[in-house]
Amino acid sequence: MYTSKITGLGHYVPENVVTNDDLSKLMDTNDAWIQERTGIQERRHIKKGDGNSTSVMGVKAATIALEEAKLKPDDIDMIVFATLSPDMYFPGGGVEVQEMMNMRTIPALDVRNQCSGFVYAMSVADQFVKTGMYKNILVIGSENHSGGLDFTTRGRSVSVIFGDGAGAAVVSRSDDKGENGILSTHLHSEGKHKDELSLQGPSTEYWVPEIIEKNPQEDIPYYPYMNGQFVFKHAIVRFTEVIHEGLKANGLSVEDIDMLIPHQANLRISQFIQQKLKLSDDQVFNNIQKYGNTTAASIPIALSEAHKAGKIKKGDLVVLAAFGSGFTWGSVIVRW
Ligand code: UT7
Repeated sequence: MYTSKITGLGHYVPENVVTNDDLSKLMDTNDAWIQERTGIQERRHIKKGDGNSTSVMGVKAATIALEEAKLKPDDIDMIVFATLSPDMYFPGGGVEVQEMMNMRTIPALDVRNQCSGFVYAMSVADQFVKTGMYKNILVIGSENHSGGLDFTTRGRSVSVIFGDGAGAAVVSRSDDKGENGILSTHLHSEGKHKDELSLQGPSTEYWVPEIIEKNPQEDIPYYPYMNGQFVFKHAIVRFTEVIHEGLKANGLSVEDIDMLIPHQANLRISQFIQQKLKLSDDQVFNNIQKYGNTTAASIPIALSEAHKAGKIKKGDLVVLAAFGSGFTWGSVIVRW
């Protein structure tokens, strides 16, 4: 078995800043409610005509990650692209990245695990590198939520939370033998809760003509649905479980964590986990205040930001953890 490690990170968010006050002009909400319940102060939204899309933002983040890894597009052996908001219903974003970055005819795999998408994608990349099949894998998490949210009062409990952006990591075969690199990944799912955070149509259950026929005021399966409190309760349990699982698998404990990067679902969830694990403010990185919840992009954006800010040093134990729609959840344990 080979060792795999993260050799490059990059992130990109659209320039257009949308504050809580901006949203309160569109719906019955306010800055105090949003900050109190979620910690979010602002988020970024793609602006029509700014040239961005899920795949375009993914390419922008990936370009920075490749530069940091000192690699050229030709050096990449595989793309793993995580999103719930692809540019097209099919094909997925991976092939768009392959085309836009002018890459060889390498495999492009799309991962559809929503908020856990990046953790799942990292796990896939890790396995391909560890077995020796590929040397350098580009992992991207990117989301364009703003195009598909209900910005009326009806959709306020969902639409104030989510933002647009992309993050990317290069996972490479490492020459270091031993304890550095991706130590392990841990993935889970529980499909019985699939409806609690879901977008039902357009799909093979809700074909487009059927949606058009229906009165949009009565049945709106084309906007996301979230049972917020139910999701919250499961999130705090699963986050802590899967962090402990990852640590235990490596003979480590909570005291060994130098940096926890939780999926940025809600600042209150991150704070709850921090308190439960008894971690200090320096041991947990949050940026949901600036970007909202960017689903599959949230961990790579946060990881890239934390790394560029010098908050992750060689030898640090970094833990990535996510929970979201499916339900799915997972963790990645990395010795930097
Ligand atoms: O990343 C994927 C995983 N997702 C998550 O982890 C999200 C987990 N859940 C949450 O973050 C929280 O449940 C929310 C932030 C979504 C909601 O917070 P909450 O404290 O659970 O509020 P609630 O849904 O119980 O709503 C409380 C009240 C309701 O009014 P009434 O019925 O008490 O009169 C809502 O209608 O707040 C109202 N409300 C709002 N008010 C102002 C809901 N959304 C808004 C809003 N602005 N945007």
